[in-house]
Amino acid sequence: MAFTHHSSPPPPLLLQSVPNSTQFQVDLQTGLGFDSISRTFGQPDVVVNCAALSIPRACETDPTLAMSVNIPSSLIKWLSSFTTSDTLLIHLSTDQVYEGTKSFYKEDDETLPVNVYGKSKVAAEEYIVANWSNYAILRSSIIFGPQTISPVSKSLPVQWMDNVLAKGQETNFFHDEFRCPVYVKDVVNIIQILSKRWISDGKKMGLVLNVGGPDRLSRVQMAEVVARVRGYDTSLIKSVSASSIDRGVKSPADISMDISKLIQTLDFTPTSFHDGVKWRETDLSSTDTQRYASEGWFMKLMEGNKQFVVKDPRKAHLFYMPFSTRMLEHTLYVRNSHNRTNLRQYLKNYAQKIAAKYPFWNKTGGADHFLVACHDWPSGKAWALHSGEPEFEPWRTHSGDTEASTPGYMAPYEMRHHMEHCIRALCNADVTADFKIGRDVSLPECYVRSARNPLRDLGGKPASERHILAFYAGNMHGYLRKILLEYWNGKDPDMKISCPMPPGVASKMN
Ligand SMILES: NC(=O)c1ccc[n+]([C@@H]2O[C@H](COP(=O)([O-])OP(=O)(O)OC[C@H]3O[C@@H](n4cnc5c(N)ncnc54)[C@H](OP(=O)(O)O)[C@@H]3O)[C@@H](O)[C@H]2O)c1
Repeated sequence: MAFTHHSSPPPPLLLQSVPNSTQFQVDLQTGLGFDSISRTFGQPDVVVNCAALSIPRACETDPTLAMSVNIPSSLIKWLSSFTTSDTLLIHLSTDQVYEGTKSFYKEDDETLPVNVYGKSKVAAEEYIVANWSNYAILRSSIIFGPQTISPVSKSLPVQWMDNVLAKGQETNFFHDEFRCPVYVKDVVNIIQILSKRWISDGKKMGLVLNVGGPDRLSRVQMAEVVARVRGYDTSLIKSVSASSIDRGVKSPADISMDISKLIQTLDFTPTSFHDGVKWRETDLSSTDTQRYASEGWFMKLMEGNKQFVVKDPRKAHLFYMPFSTRMLEHTLYVRNSHNRTNLRQYLKNYAQKIAAKYPFWNKTGGADHFLVACHDWPSGKAWALHSGEPEFEPWRTHSGDTEASTPGYMAPYEMRHHMEHCIRALCNADVTADFKIGRDVSLPECYVRSARNPLRDLGGKPASERHILAFYAGNMHGYLRKILLEYWNGKDPDMKISCPMPPGVASKMN
């Protein structure tokens, strides 16, 4: 697998998420860089061309540049330099090839773009059809999905709507521009299906497909879905006509697409806009809510805190390393891969960067630094089971069961190396699992049930209304609980000690 990049290299996080990938700098306008791919990589089986000048206003400002980047003549010239035409070219085109004067365009409807961007994409399609026989042209609608691994300069459509609505500010949305937004993971799946088909069948394609979601939606309707899913006030959405705003470029009104060819050819069921927005929300909330909220919660409180944070590092007693184990797992771990190389590499780079940048690290080898992490995450239990670097161990959850797909035990390696002296504040730490009494601390677990309203059900009644000094309910994990209960149980009426609570009650407890 290889990536190309143009002005700046692909972000390390992206490269690390595809182990053993190579990268090449290529300029589609001039063709510079293709030769080095031929020399080291050879002829690819599949090329996915996502490169483009894709902002319509930028194309309108510089049509010559738009044409020279968007028509992939240098790419096809390079492909033609190989002795066989055995490469499948999957080319990203756009719904903006259509004029926008009717609904549900089919692939063989006339293409009549209203702006330079659309014109350059039509010219690209024509160039490919005339010069390369093995192609799949994907006319994509607006692509939406979770936040990208690294920031992108364009504003992402759902994220933008989410941001303005979250601020509670009234915002204009067009009621007369219709699109069929497509979930980004569907686009990825379509590309995968096409690639696998070519590699297994070896039949040249010559395929043009509308790639959209199943819903024809105006921008108002999209904003309404985002508002409903995220719990925002829908009255903030002001419905206006697209003609009321000058965007410096013409935009087609209704380029909704008929996607029956996509569904039939690939036997594919696209995601609805509502589900895509909801999954995106789940993707986000699963990382910062539920029982894994403590580290994010700590970060948030530290950021807003004037009492414990100092600007002058010379006045600091301790240095906090503000990384989130949950976000690392979420962004870098390839589900079920059982491979944590990229997570380890990331942490190693992180620690080395801190050491290089700040002299404070080197004074104590990190002993005056602390990290806050999910329970068990940086424990050494797995390490103890292996003499070398652990490949994979299931990690223990609160209930004592195992989550075989969780990369929890990638951390011991770091704990034994780059971060071995750090103080660890672990949510609900397990003292049996390499917890060092005297160095490490346990952080109370907090169970955030709603990303939108994180304080819901937290904290309980004000102190003046509480009549019990302490309450304990639960199982007897570890050895400390037994010792503590020997002192507490039945000794003091203000200490209520209980067995494990029934499931209905336990799930509501914090
Ligand atoms: N995103 C959508 O909603 C959407 C909808 C319909 C169709 N599409 C199509 O899908 C494709 C990908 O869209 P996107 O949103 O990912 O676009 P994007 O964010 O604008 O990315 C375009 C990429 O093209 C690269 N590029 C620009 N000039 C280049 C050159 N001369 N040589 C080599 N690479 C160059 C850019 O690299 P640098 O930044 O380094 O220059 C950038 O990485 C495009 O063809 C677009 O037209 C996208």
